[in-house]
Amino acid sequence: MGKRLSWATRFGFYLAAIGSACGLGNLWRFPYVVGENGGGAFVLLYVFLALTFGLPLLIGELILGKATRKSVLTAVDTLEYEKKKPFRIFGKMALVLNLAVLSYYAVISGWVLHFAIQFLVRLLGIHQAQTQSMMDLLLNNGLLQVGLTSVHLLFTIIVVLKGIQDGLEKWVGWMMPLFGVLMLILVVRSLSLSSNQEALRFLFYPDFSKLTYSSMIHAIGHVCFTLSVGFGTMVTFGSYLREEDHVPTAGFRVTIVDTLISLFAGLLIFPIAFQGTNTPMTDPGLLFELLPSFLFELPGGILFGFGFFICLYLAALSASIGLLEVIVSNIEDRLKYRRSSSAWVVGIVALIVGMVPALSGSALKGIRIFGKGMLEGLDSIVINWILPIIAAGMALGITYGMKKMDKERLFVDTNKMESASLFSHWEVALKWYIPILVVVALVFQVFGLFQ
Ligand code: PHE
Repeated sequence: MGKRLSWATRFGFYLAAIGSACGLGNLWRFPYVVGENGGGAFVLLYVFLALTFGLPLLIGELILGKATRKSVLTAVDTLEYEKKKPFRIFGKMALVLNLAVLSYYAVISGWVLHFAIQFLVRLLGIHQAQTQSMMDLLLNNGLLQVGLTSVHLLFTIIVVLKGIQDGLEKWVGWMMPLFGVLMLILVVRSLSLSSNQEALRFLFYPDFSKLTYSSMIHAIGHVCFTLSVGFGTMVTFGSYLREEDHVPTAGFRVTIVDTLISLFAGLLIFPIAFQGTNTPMTDPGLLFELLPSFLFELPGGILFGFGFFICLYLAALSASIGLLEVIVSNIEDRLKYRRSSSAWVVGIVALIVGMVPALSGSALKGIRIFGKGMLEGLDSIVINWILPIIAAGMALGITYGMKKMDKERLFVDTNKMESASLFSHWEVALKWYIPILVVVALVFQVFGLFQ
């Protein structure tokens, strides 16, 4: 077997890793999960866990990839403990998780596409006046949602099949700074609303009484989701790292960028939310309900809106590509199926599963899981129950299944004195802190169910 390819430049890794990490998790999911969990105290918990839970795990997955030069299933297979391979199950679970997430990620990506088109037709002056809000129209129209989801999955499949990720990454690379600038301008505008004080207080003043029994697991789940850890994605990216790249530094930078983008999303949405709208802050459509009407009021807002949703769509596309790619490349490695057939089959299965969340606002409106609609219910089961378990399993797998020597070689940089002492902290985080926290948080969540 030939030597595994590496990123041509260090920039290549960052583009891919940040491209996968930053997406709907930051813009769509973060604000409403913060809304659901009462604001400031949760934000503090989230930032704390991003650094103490997400970052060590992200470094762990990258190290596993770099050490084995394999993607998740095969990499996890190399983890042995007392001549057995008890961690295999987590690799398999991670793949199923990718499929489940892809199916509803595609639905939300379809929403983004819809809004980009809505802004475009307004820009071109060819839209018809409507009385209902754009989001309501979309939610009530199941067929439209299934159509948009299919288009999104089709784009994703084409990119994965044609192997044009490289080309796309360059695009995303160009769009990212543009997206950053657009967001910054919108944040400034949003913070100049009269509700700014109230919003800042909500976002940053920690009122711990607002936390619920499930807040801890919500924060853990969201940290894993937004950093793409527990999915095996980062194992693949780590396998392409160049020998000279220092893994903890890379992981740290990805975590910081991703966390900052989420905080910016909060700064963008909450001043609008406090400006007398009647959308509940716990609504998964929060971003889509609030942002368009805010943009329509701004001078040049339609152009801004178009740019914003196109950039967000590219971010969603690059995250979806990561999800599909992990499944397809693992099937290719293990089952030796042709890449093209597996991409189509996985895409179609994702579409079939995705029909459920896509129809959750229309045909399936009456069906509820734990009192939530199908979309939120699916998201909640996957992110708040299954993902943390895989994350803990991965942490234990890396702890017990990899040789200390290998980990130390990849973690410690002889030019960076502090990395030697950080190494032992990192080991403790994976061995004790992460698994114990997951168990405690799950117990709290179960307890909360009976309250
Ligand atoms: N991290 C992505 C986001 O925040 C979601 C994702 C998870 C993408 C796992 C790929 C793999 O939107």
